[in-house]
Amino acid sequence: MTNDIDKILFTEEQILKRVKELAQEINEYFGKEPIVAVFVLKGSAFFASDLIRYLDMNVTMEFMTVSSYGAQTISSGKLTIKKDIDTDIAGKNVLIIEDIIDTGITLSTLAKLFRERGAKNLKVVTMLSKPSRREVEFEADFTGFEIPDVFVVGYGLDYADNYRNLPYIASLKEHVYKDKID
Ligand code: IMP
Ligand code: MG
Repeated sequence: MTNDIDKILFTEEQILKRVKELAQEINEYFGKEPIVAVFVLKGSAFFASDLIRYLDMNVTMEFMTVSSYGAQTISSGKLTIKKDIDTDIAGKNVLIIEDIIDTGITLSTLAKLFRERGAKNLKVVTMLSKPSRREVEFEADFTGFEIPDVFVVGYGLDYADNYRNLPYIASLKEHVYKDKID
Protein backbone atom coordinates (compact mmCIF):
# COMPACT_ATOMS: atom_id res chain seq x y z
CA MET A 1 0.00 0.00 0.00
CA THR A 2 2.70 2.53 0.96
CA ASN A 3 4.44 1.77 -2.37
CA ASP A 4 1.61 3.67 -4.03
CA ILE A 5 2.31 6.84 -2.02
CA ASP A 6 4.00 9.71 -3.82
CA LYS A 7 4.48 12.50 -1.28
CA ILE A 8 3.28 13.09 2.29
CA LEU A 9 1.52 16.46 2.40
CA PHE A 10 0.58 16.46 6.09
CA THR A 11 1.98 14.27 8.84
CA GLU A 12 0.02 12.92 11.81
CA GLU A 13 1.51 15.66 13.99
CA GLN A 14 0.63 18.45 11.57
CA ILE A 15 -2.91 17.13 11.23
CA LEU A 16 -3.50 16.90 14.98
CA LYS A 17 -2.13 20.40 15.55
CA ARG A 18 -4.49 21.82 12.92
CA VAL A 19 -7.45 19.79 14.25
CA LYS A 20 -6.94 21.34 17.70
CA GLU A 21 -6.76 24.83 16.19
CA LEU A 22 -9.99 24.23 14.26
CA ALA A 23 -11.70 22.95 17.43
CA GLN A 24 -10.60 26.11 19.20
CA GLU A 25 -12.15 28.28 16.44
CA ILE A 26 -15.37 26.27 16.62
CA ASN A 27 -15.45 26.52 20.42
CA GLU A 28 -15.05 30.27 20.17
CA TYR A 29 -17.81 30.53 17.58
CA PHE A 30 -20.49 28.36 19.23
CA GLY A 31 -19.58 28.99 22.86
CA LYS A 32 -21.78 26.86 25.13
CA GLU A 33 -24.51 26.28 22.48
CA PRO A 34 -25.09 22.55 21.90
CA ILE A 35 -24.42 21.30 18.38
CA VAL A 36 -25.29 18.36 16.17
CA ALA A 37 -22.10 17.13 14.49
CA VAL A 38 -22.87 15.54 11.12
CA PHE A 39 -20.13 13.16 9.99
CA VAL A 40 -20.11 12.92 6.22
CA LEU A 41 -18.98 9.31 5.83
CA LYS A 42 -16.81 7.59 5.12
CA GLY A 43 -14.16 10.21 4.38
CA SER A 44 -14.56 12.41 7.45
CA ALA A 45 -14.67 9.55 9.98
CA PHE A 46 -11.20 10.12 11.45
CA PHE A 47 -11.21 13.90 11.13
CA ALA A 48 -14.65 14.24 12.73
CA SER A 49 -13.83 11.81 15.55
CA ASP A 50 -10.62 13.67 16.33
CA LEU A 51 -12.20 17.11 16.04
CA ILE A 52 -15.24 16.63 18.26
CA ARG A 53 -13.07 15.34 21.09
CA TYR A 54 -11.67 18.86 21.40
CA LEU A 55 -15.08 20.60 21.38
CA ASP A 56 -16.28 21.96 24.72
CA MET A 57 -20.05 22.22 24.20
CA ASN A 58 -22.60 19.37 24.22
CA VAL A 59 -22.18 17.48 20.95
CA THR A 60 -24.43 14.82 19.47
CA MET A 61 -23.19 12.68 16.58
CA GLU A 62 -25.07 11.99 13.37
CA PHE A 63 -23.87 10.02 10.37
CA MET A 64 -24.62 10.59 6.75
CA THR A 65 -23.36 8.78 3.67
CA VAL A 66 -23.46 10.55 0.34
CA SER A 67 -21.70 9.78 -2.87
CA SER A 68 -20.73 11.74 -5.90
CA TYR A 69 -17.88 9.40 -6.86
CA GLY A 70 -17.52 5.91 -8.24
CA ALA A 71 -14.08 4.35 -8.34
CA GLN A 72 -12.83 7.41 -10.21
CA THR A 73 -10.96 10.56 -9.35
CA ILE A 74 -13.37 12.81 -11.26
CA SER A 75 -16.65 13.93 -9.69
CA SER A 76 -19.77 12.75 -11.45
CA GLY A 77 -21.53 15.96 -10.41
CA LYS A 78 -24.49 14.07 -8.97
CA LEU A 79 -25.13 13.51 -5.32
CA THR A 80 -26.88 10.48 -3.88
CA ILE A 81 -27.86 10.19 -0.22
CA LYS A 82 -27.13 6.59 0.70
CA LYS A 83 -27.72 6.98 4.43
CA ASP A 84 -29.44 9.90 6.07
CA ILE A 85 -29.16 11.20 9.65
CA ASP A 86 -31.80 9.90 12.03
CA THR A 87 -32.75 13.03 13.91
CA ASP A 88 -34.78 16.17 13.24
CA ILE A 89 -32.35 19.09 13.09
CA ALA A 90 -34.99 21.83 12.87
CA GLY A 91 -34.07 24.67 15.23
CA LYS A 92 -30.67 23.17 16.07
CA ASN A 93 -27.07 24.23 15.57
CA VAL A 94 -25.56 21.94 12.97
CA LEU A 95 -21.89 21.43 12.15
CA ILE A 96 -21.32 19.47 8.95
CA ILE A 97 -17.91 17.79 9.05
CA GLU A 98 -16.39 16.93 5.66
CA ASP A 99 -13.06 15.53 4.56
CA ILE A 100 -12.41 17.63 1.47
CA ILE A 101 -14.13 20.20 -0.75
CA ASP A 102 -13.33 19.64 -4.39
CA THR A 103 -15.91 20.86 -6.94
CA GLY A 104 -18.11 22.10 -4.08
CA ILE A 105 -21.12 20.13 -5.33
CA THR A 106 -21.41 17.83 -2.29
CA LEU A 107 -21.34 20.58 0.30
CA SER A 108 -23.42 23.14 -1.56
CA THR A 109 -26.10 20.46 -1.98
CA LEU A 110 -25.87 19.33 1.65
CA ALA A 111 -25.89 22.88 3.00
CA LYS A 112 -29.04 23.65 0.99
CA LEU A 113 -30.69 20.48 2.30
CA PHE A 114 -29.92 21.27 5.95
CA ARG A 115 -31.18 24.83 5.55
CA GLU A 116 -34.42 23.52 4.06
CA ARG A 117 -34.72 21.20 7.05
CA GLY A 118 -34.66 24.26 9.29
CA ALA A 119 -31.24 24.22 10.95
CA LYS A 120 -31.02 27.22 13.28
CA ASN A 121 -27.37 27.79 12.54
CA LEU A 122 -25.49 25.76 9.97
CA LYS A 123 -21.71 25.74 9.78
CA VAL A 124 -19.37 23.62 7.71
CA VAL A 125 -15.88 22.48 8.64
CA THR A 126 -13.61 20.71 6.18
CA MET A 127 -10.17 19.22 6.71
CA LEU A 128 -9.02 20.04 3.17
CA SER A 129 -10.07 22.29 0.31
CA LYS A 130 -8.98 22.48 -3.32
CA PRO A 131 -10.09 26.02 -4.25
CA SER A 132 -8.84 25.72 -7.85
CA ARG A 133 -11.27 22.85 -8.55
CA ARG A 134 -14.57 24.61 -7.72
CA GLU A 135 -17.44 24.21 -10.15
CA VAL A 136 -19.96 25.79 -7.81
CA GLU A 137 -19.17 28.59 -5.42
CA PHE A 138 -18.81 27.19 -1.94
CA GLU A 139 -16.50 27.90 0.98
CA ALA A 140 -16.50 26.20 4.35
CA ASP A 141 -16.71 28.27 7.51
CA PHE A 142 -13.66 26.49 8.92
CA THR A 143 -10.94 24.96 6.73
CA GLY A 144 -7.96 22.85 7.82
CA PHE A 145 -5.63 23.16 4.84
CA GLU A 146 -5.93 24.44 1.29
CA ILE A 147 -4.19 22.21 -1.23
CA PRO A 148 -3.48 22.39 -4.97
CA ASP A 149 -5.17 20.17 -7.54
CA VAL A 150 -3.66 16.84 -6.50
CA PHE A 151 -5.53 13.67 -5.59
CA VAL A 152 -4.86 12.82 -1.96
CA VAL A 153 -5.51 9.82 0.26
CA GLY A 154 -5.15 8.88 3.92
CA TYR A 155 -6.67 10.04 7.22
CA GLY A 156 -10.06 8.91 5.89
CA LEU A 157 -9.60 9.91 2.27
CA ASP A 158 -9.75 7.10 -0.23
CA TYR A 159 -9.05 6.05 -3.74
CA ALA A 160 -11.55 3.30 -4.69
CA ASP A 161 -12.17 2.80 -0.94
CA ASN A 162 -8.52 2.07 -0.15
CA TYR A 163 -5.80 4.00 1.74
CA ARG A 164 -8.26 5.48 4.28
CA ASN A 165 -6.30 4.01 7.18
CA LEU A 166 -3.03 5.79 6.41
CA PRO A 167 -2.33 8.06 9.41
CA TYR A 168 -1.05 10.90 7.18
CA ILE A 169 -2.41 12.71 4.09
CA ALA A 170 -0.47 11.95 0.92
CA SER A 171 -0.63 12.15 -2.84
CA LEU A 172 -0.81 8.95 -4.86
CA LYS A 173 1.66 7.94 -7.54
CA GLU A 174 0.12 8.55 -10.93
CA HIS A 175 0.37 4.93 -12.07
CA VAL A 176 -2.17 3.97 -9.40
CA TYR A 177 -5.04 5.71 -11.15
CA LYS A 178 -3.66 6.97 -14.47
CA ASP A 179 -4.80 3.99 -16.52
CA LYS A 180 -8.23 3.86 -14.91
CA ILE A 181 -9.62 7.25 -15.96
CA ASP A 182 -9.82 8.95 -19.35
P1 IMP B 1 -17.06 17.64 -4.34
O1 IMP B 1 -18.52 17.39 -4.33
O2 IMP B 1 -16.50 17.64 -5.73
O3 IMP B 1 -16.65 18.88 -3.57
O4 IMP B 1 -16.38 16.38 -3.75
C1 IMP B 1 -16.22 16.13 -2.45
C2 IMP B 1 -15.92 14.65 -2.26
O5 IMP B 1 -15.07 14.18 -3.30
C3 IMP B 1 -15.18 14.42 -0.99
O6 IMP B 1 -16.06 14.15 0.07
C4 IMP B 1 -14.32 13.22 -1.32
O7 IMP B 1 -15.03 12.03 -1.07
C5 IMP B 1 -14.09 13.29 -2.80
N1 IMP B 1 -12.75 13.81 -3.13
C6 IMP B 1 -12.45 14.97 -3.75
N2 IMP B 1 -11.13 15.13 -3.90
C7 IMP B 1 -10.56 14.04 -3.35
C8 IMP B 1 -9.19 13.62 -3.17
O8 IMP B 1 -8.20 14.29 -3.54
N3 IMP B 1 -9.02 12.42 -2.56
C9 IMP B 1 -10.05 11.66 -2.12
N4 IMP B 1 -11.33 12.02 -2.25
C10 IMP B 1 -11.59 13.20 -2.86
MG1 MG C 1 -16.23 11.94 0.77
